[in-house]
Amino acid sequence: MGLTRVPGLLFGGDYNPEQWPEHVWDEDVRLMAEAGVNMATVAVFSWSRLEPRRGEYEFGWLDRIMDLLHEHGVAADLATATATPPPWLVREHPGVLPVDAAGTRLDFGSRQSYCPSSPVFREATVRLARVMAERYREHPALAMWHISNEYADHTLECFCEESARHFRRWLSARHGSIDGLNAAWGTSCWGQHYTSYDQVNPPRKAPGPVNPAQVLDWRRFCSDALLECFELEKAVLREVTPDIPVTTNFMSILHGLDYWKWAAAEDVVSDDAYPDPADPASHVAVALSYDLMRSLKRRPWLLLEQAGGAVSWREVNAPKPPGMMRLHSLQALAHGADGAMFFQWRQAKYGPEKFHSALLPHGGTASRGWRDTLRLGADLKRLAEIAGSATRAEVALVLDWESWWGLEAPESMPSNRLKLKALLQAWYEPLHATGVAVDLVPAGGDLSGHRVVIVPNLYMCTGEQAGWLADFGGHLIVGPFSGVTDPDDQVHDGGAPGPLRGLLGVAVDEFWPLPDGLVQRVRLAPATGGEPGHVLSARTWTEWLRVEDAEVLARYEGGDLDGQAAITRRGTVTYLGCLLDDVTPVLSEVLARAGVEPVADVPEGVEATRRGRYLFLLNHATSPAKVNLREPGKDLLTGRDLSGPIEIPARDAVVLRTDPQPTGAQPGGTGTLTDADTDVPPTEGER
Ligand code: GLA
Repeated sequence: MGLTRVPGLLFGGDYNPEQWPEHVWDEDVRLMAEAGVNMATVAVFSWSRLEPRRGEYEFGWLDRIMDLLHEHGVAADLATATATPPPWLVREHPGVLPVDAAGTRLDFGSRQSYCPSSPVFREATVRLARVMAERYREHPALAMWHISNEYADHTLECFCEESARHFRRWLSARHGSIDGLNAAWGTSCWGQHYTSYDQVNPPRKAPGPVNPAQVLDWRRFCSDALLECFELEKAVLREVTPDIPVTTNFMSILHGLDYWKWAAAEDVVSDDAYPDPADPASHVAVALSYDLMRSLKRRPWLLLEQAGGAVSWREVNAPKPPGMMRLHSLQALAHGADGAMFFQWRQAKYGPEKFHSALLPHGGTASRGWRDTLRLGADLKRLAEIAGSATRAEVALVLDWESWWGLEAPESMPSNRLKLKALLQAWYEPLHATGVAVDLVPAGGDLSGHRVVIVPNLYMCTGEQAGWLADFGGHLIVGPFSGVTDPDDQVHDGGAPGPLRGLLGVAVDEFWPLPDGLVQRVRLAPATGGEPGHVLSARTWTEWLRVEDAEVLARYEGGDLDGQAAITRRGTVTYLGCLLDDVTPVLSEVLARAGVEPVADVPEGVEATRRGRYLFLLNHATSPAKVNLREPGKDLLTGRDLSGPIEIPARDAVVLRTDPQPTGAQPGGTGTLTDADTDVPPTEGER
């Protein structure tokens, strides 16, 4: 089953015909067909053009666009057009506009100008979604619904009175009586004891640090409030067009929204990714978010937006040098995407994004950008057979949003330097560099098929989550400052690592964050398989550990913690009480013990992934790379049969169709790989 009814891989982009005179549309669809575009995202910001006055609709232009797209073989990812309310709505009801933490109401003139809790806004979106669904339910171009756009991009939270009332309802559902809230929030501290929910507000700007438990509940609430907006529209679409899949475009690894919850509510996971072409390591960070997208439903996903070249919202917007746009698109496929789409189809003539790149640049068909578009379109056709093929990973990285929100609470932590994305990346980078496939899992998620589980940090950890890790039974690595608080952000009795103490066999006597720039030496014991006495370095964070029931793998050398345990192991569970500059020695030893193999042997700069029988080798370097193939196959991009040593040109790729593997023989895999592995089983609860 594909992501939509469109066969093969999806290719295309956001299409904003309302920004162009109609005579341009004919050229648009003609060129789309020429480039092999098979999907366009339409009407994302079109509310004010579709409903220019309350209840008065002008669908003529969108009807013509939908027809034109269909006539040229292009399916529509049709937006419900609710990403920006129209001016008449916010002028009739100024309460629709969002209010910031300092109490300033933000005006109209950009986009996402709405309060997520506004009943007026919600009601108007649902009405428009119904009108759209009823109008286009039978249209042959309609292949997917696109609700709103990048929720939380500009408006994650609103601090108005309506939001305060909504927050109070949400809190009373969670905590019951006001005393429940007092207990959960620890309001005995700093004299915050409430006697009624009416006294409780969002964490608006206050004289000093705001109660971290209040901020934590606010984070949960804000993610849920926007998800309610999504669900309200989805319910209408489901009712009117039950067979059309629904998505909303995610923003990679976004702090504000718990994407595990969000993904469960949608049919297709889609993502917008904008790695900075000026950053030579940006393809590594983006690979992590692609692996998250694949893991959210454990099935293929869609790269719904990326840039063909430069974006328009950085301080300096670097273009993509030749080959990079194609390579980055192939990279998304390598990590499980079943399509590579763009913002946007035709480069804008006006507005804040007129310098943002597009598939069809200002220079038209004479431009280099257009030649890249044609090349990518042709490549995606050659790769059509990979659609639906599955990735299998034996290593899992745990990512839990609630714990992340707790960890990054402002103004009350031992160190503000612990940032979850960086902690994840510290483990992901060496895995990525060696070609070891990685899944992301939520705390409490499915660990079947994984041999190694890495918890870079689980600051907030429940007894159930500790039990889940204890039950895993494979090789487990836990990073520092884990097991510190409960879901109300209250420190576990006895301190860290709280419910993880028995599993790790250590207790944290005292957190020992390091000042910026200070480097702490860490000496590995020979038992780790590294060179005897190998010295590593830690920065930012260390802990004074009491070792209760574990062996010591490494000790601090010099400094305040000289001689204290830095890394410990109990059975197959390794604990790091510090942040190492480079986790590779610890990681490689655990991978070796667990028998986890890379999917290919690759030099620096070459990324290797496997989807079913397809091996992707992506050379991100600016010089050619040599790779020795373990198995022969056909390169789908060139049609050539390859085996043994090959050379991949700079910023180029090989996508090798290998023979189906016999039982137990998949490099880096467990169990059987047959042709059946290319079919992704639908996850539970999917349509
Ligand atoms: C986001 C938005 C698009 C566009 C691009 C520009 O992804 O969804 O509408 O603004 O950014 O990079």
